Order: sequence, then C-alpha cells, then structure tokens
Amino acid sequence: MDGSPGILLILDGWGHAPAAPGNALAAAASPFLDALVGDPAGLLLEASGGAVGLPEGVVGNSEIGHMVMGAGRPLEYDSLLVQRQAESGALRTHPVLRDVCGRLVREGGTLHLVGLCSDGRIHADIGHLPEVLRAVRAAGLERCAIHAITDGRDVPEGTSGRYLSALTTMTEEIGVGFVAGVIGRDYAMDKSGRDDLTAKASRLLLDGAAERTAPDAESAVRGHDHDGSVPPTAVTDPAGTPTTVRDGDVILFMNFRSDRTAPLVDRVADDLASDGRTRVRLLSLGRYDTRAEVPALVPRADASGGVADALEEAGVRSLRIAEREKFDHVTFFFNGRDARRRTGEEHVLVPPAADGPVQDHPEMNIDALGRAVVEGAGRGDVGLVVANLANMDVVGHTGSYEATCRAVTAVDRVAARICAAARDSGHWVLLVGDHGNAEQMLTSPEDGSAPRPYGGHTRNPVPCALVTADGARPAAPAGAAIPSIGPTVLHLLGVPVPAGMSAPSLFTLRSRQGALDDL
Ligand code: 3PG
Ligand code: CO
Repeated sequence: MDGSPGILLILDGWGHAPAAPGNALAAAASPFLDALVGDPAGLLLEASGGAVGLPEGVVGNSEIGHMVMGAGRPLEYDSLLVQRQAESGALRTHPVLRDVCGRLVREGGTLHLVGLCSDGRIHADIGHLPEVLRAVRAAGLERCAIHAITDGRDVPEGTSGRYLSALTTMTEEIGVGFVAGVIGRDYAMDKSGRDDLTAKASRLLLDGAAERTAPDAESAVRGHDHDGSVPPTAVTDPAGTPTTVRDGDVILFMNFRSDRTAPLVDRVADDLASDGRTRVRLLSLGRYDTRAEVPALVPRADASGGVADALEEAGVRSLRIAEREKFDHVTFFFNGRDARRRTGEEHVLVPPAADGPVQDHPEMNIDALGRAVVEGAGRGDVGLVVANLANMDVVGHTGSYEATCRAVTAVDRVAARICAAARDSGHWVLLVGDHGNAEQMLTSPEDGSAPRPYGGHTRNPVPCALVTADGARPAAPAGAAIPSIGPTVLHLLGVPVPAGMSAPSLFTLRSRQGALDDL
C-alpha cells in the first residue's frame, strides 16, 4: 500500500434531488453535507437501474449498492436475471418448474407460491408471477396456491388492495391460481430476529393457521391502515376451510432478494422437518443465503474479486462498522456476497441505542458509531475503515418526514465529526450514498390526488465527495456511477486494482475528461 489510509463512509439513503416539498435533505439543518454537495450540486453518481446492474428504471437498494461498490463493477443483480428469464420466456419453460408441475399433476399435489405482492422490485416483482402461472397452466396443474405478502415499504402505503386485486385478475386471465393467504411483510419478512413473527408467517403458509379469515384477498386488507402489518389472514374456501401444505407439495419462494426472506425459508424448513412433512420440496427464484438447501431457478452473478480480495492480497487491514440494519451490507455484501472474513478484516457491530419505533429515536446509535470510526481509524494499523451511517434510509423507510429530517441532521453532525478527526490524523474520507431515499419523502399518486408520504427508495443519483487533509473536494466527474467507488478506494490506498474491476476509478474518469487538476 503506497497511498494513505482512509475511510469509506456510506451514507445510506443519501440521494440528491432539487429542493422541493418532501426533500428532507434540502430542508433539514445539515450544514456540513450541504457544503460538500454544493448548490447547484456538481458531482453525483448514478445508483439505480442499468448503471448498477438492475433492470432499467428500477430504484437502487442497499444490497446491490454495497455489492457493486465492493466489486468495483456493475453486477447483474438477481432481479435483472429473473426479469430477463421472464421476458425471454425461459421462466415459463424452465425445466425444473416443468418437472415439478408434472410431478404434482401426477401425484395430485399443490404448488405454493410465496412472494411480496408489489412491484417495488427491491425484494420482488409481481410482474414475474404471470410467467410462473403460465408454466403451471401449460403443465396442466390445477392447484396453485398463492400466499401473498403485503408491502407498503418498497411502494407507497395503502396500495396493497390494488396489488391484490391485480393478482386476482391475473389468475383469472391466465386461468390458474388462487390466493390462499395474506400477511404483512412485518411478519413474513422480518430480519430483526423476531422469531415469533416469522413463526406466524410459517404457520399461516403451512397450516392456514391465522388470526382471521377472509373470503377473498382484497377483503383481507380492507380497512387496514398499514400494509406491512396486515395480520396472518387465511383466505378460505366457501366452506371456511383454509389451504394447507401437504406432504409432497412444492413451495416456490418468489422473492429474489435473500436478506428478508431467508429467515422465513429456514423457519418453514424447520417446521416441516419437525412436523415430519419430509417430502415437501422448497425452491426459490433467486438464490438465498439460508441454512436450508433451497435450489434456485435462476443462478446468481459472481461478485468475487473486489475490494476485500484486493486488500487481503495487499495485506491491508480493514475495519467494517455499522449498526445491525446495515451490518451485512458493509461485510457480506461489500465482500461480494461472501461470508468469508478475509485475513486482516475486523467487524464492529454497533448495538442499538433504544427499543421502540425508530421514528421516535432517529439518531439511532450514530454517536457510538461515529466514535468507533474515529477510534478505529486512529489505531494506526488500519488501512481502510468502511462504515455505514444508516439513519437516512432506516428512518426514511418509516415515511415520517419530521423524523427523517432529524436523521439527516444526526448524520450531518457525525459525518462532520468523523471528517474533522480524519483531517487531523491524515486520513482521507470518501463519502457516498448507496441509493436515494431521504431526499424524496412524498409521492404523487397517479390519480392526481394530493402527494402522500413516501418511505421507499428513489432513482435519484447519490452525492459523492472526497475530504482530504487539505480541504474538502468533490470527487466525481459527471456521468459516473457507484461501481467506481471500488477502484477509487484502492487508488487512494495505493493498492493494485484487480483486473476484474471493470468500473473506472473516479481519477481515471476525471483524467479521461481532461480535468486532471483538482484531484
Ligand atoms: C428493506 O428491506 O428494508 C427495504 O425493502 C429495502 O431497503 P434496503 O435496500 O435499504 O435494505
Ligand atoms: Co432501504
């Protein structure tokens, strides 16, 4: 390493948009970040759609964001790979799906489809369902039960009824499939370790065990305020009987992103084993990081050969620091979706500051996190600190504008403190967002009604800035995207850039654009 040590500070949910109602970044007191970004904002990186390996026009997310920064190249994300198979017809004719449906026809079994019922395209896309239903229909399988998870997080609140009715229409048009159960994502996609919630989702799926019943999918959510917290609801047949998973049935999990679905999949596998339903087969669309062995219909892209491997090779020590919500992102995802801790890699998991809804404590434990970053960098033996300041995204997801403004101010304060300490100790700090969120907390419904609170991600570009001992400077030329962060970090450290890192570093880009002067 012949560069200098530094800090990669990932500001989760830090997107850029012009000042407008609902822009928490523009409104909140954040003098440090405002000065870094400038007005008009000069230097922004793309963090959504094709620039990072998502389908065109799809909002960025933290998984792909951290993966492409770590890999130093755009990766074909699971949603893109599934989408491609759906568009080309390969999903409809998928040999595994065909064989599974054929066997269920012969044995009189049921195919169960489980998935988030929306088109937020972060965890799932309801648009993939028609192709699977067409495969089912082509195989002549009559029993296909759909277990719908309601969203309200990756899409605006209050939209579940619309998605469920689109689902019903879809099954009627294709001529196969019925909704067997409806449950909010707070239960079925919990990743905070609330096993009681996951267990309810598993028992609804496997046994039809519910807190209430409904005659059809839409009635399951009618009158319910929060899409994510719709209680376990069995959609029963006219005789009031719920659907259950019988031994020999097949369950296909349709969510392509693993983090929030893996706990349910493992719980279902455990429940099936303890019930003795050993012939139930589990499948998924995209691959999951589960204990249970679950074959995926669509293989994953290889994300190896990134920053983590280059640091290990060069013998550079790194420190990864985050609160629980983004801990896997600065470790597992940044390392190419690989659980192997590289030689010289240390992890700091910052504990939560308080219990209860995050909008009541939007600062989370950011002060402790900031201290850990400063102490870690100050140790002297650490080449790179990678830290995630999660507040703008985690609080942004609540849809609360006021709480998100407080989150912005907290991030601003701690980012300023880290940069000041880094300047004193001779570290550079590269600040970047992984995707937008806090800069757009309102959405305008298509029906022209008044703007409504919005807690989801956005397609906006993200700011990027390099702070060095001799002052703060913007780091990126125009037209760059977040995969360039990987080679830029290695360049600053003076570590050789691996051949597979195809994204140009921001320095390379800048010199290509003929402005060598200010980096
Ligand atoms: C979530 O899982 O919390 C959201 O759907 C996506 O958020 P993330 O991509 O920022 O983790
Ligand atoms: Co998010």
